[in-house]
Amino acid sequence: MSQGKDGGGFADPAGTWNQRFAADGYLFGTEPNAWLREHAGVWAPGQRVLCVADGEGRNSVWLAKRGLQVDAFDIAEVGVAKARRLAAEQGASVNFQVADCDGFAWPEAHYDGVAAIFVQFADPALRERLFARMQHCLKPGGTLLLQGYTPRQLEYRTGGPPLLSHLYTAPMLREAFAAMDIVELRDYEADVAEGSGHRGHSALIGLVARRR
Ligand SMILES: C[S@@+](CC[C@H](N)C(=O)[O-])C[C@H]1O[C@@H](n2cnc3c(N)ncnc32)[C@H](O)[C@@H]1O
Repeated sequence: MSQGKDGGGFADPAGTWNQRFAADGYLFGTEPNAWLREHAGVWAPGQRVLCVADGEGRNSVWLAKRGLQVDAFDIAEVGVAKARRLAAEQGASVNFQVADCDGFAWPEAHYDGVAAIFVQFADPALRERLFARMQHCLKPGGTLLLQGYTPRQLEYRTGGPPLLSHLYTAPMLREAFAAMDIVELRDYEADVAEGSGHRGHSALIGLVARRR
């Protein structure tokens, strides 16, 4: 796919993403992201997890089916409507909200986990606010799972925003999450098959970090 599917549209994110999600099917599929699937064992059934900008709900629905109490939000109401349908079809219970990440009512020290999977809509200023809120909403001992693309992804053009300033590097994430214990930080390449939106050989980065 071209980078355009997941990039651009930063001036009107709700309109852009509503239009993308209005198409038939699920843009990133209905299966959870692989980094999340691989690491979700950090959370025990019954624990409370927030899925940041979960789009059409693939990650939040899967986590709820594992017995977690899941809150999820996204700016795109069309995506959230599809996420609600996915949850209903799969018999999962997720507390979905339509919200901008600046408008979401972030609670303090409330969650055992935060899942932030491909939230690279954020430019550096928004990213700083978003990452701070993601950390502060975790209880001490709570775990953040984050997945994104690195700058090498600009060569592969298989997903993600076509903007260097939105992409992550290991030093950037180490600095952004310096107040947390970094459990794992992996800069790697893999073949991704997540709907039509993320497809093909990709330059990825994954983080597991625990709040002190
Ligand atoms: C690449 S998609 C990833 C969706 C989901 N996390 C997943 O892995 O399937 C990025 C998501 O960010 C949402 N988004 C964009 N800008 C946002 C904002 N300012 N606040 C909240 N969500 C936003 C979009 O609607 C879209 O669902």
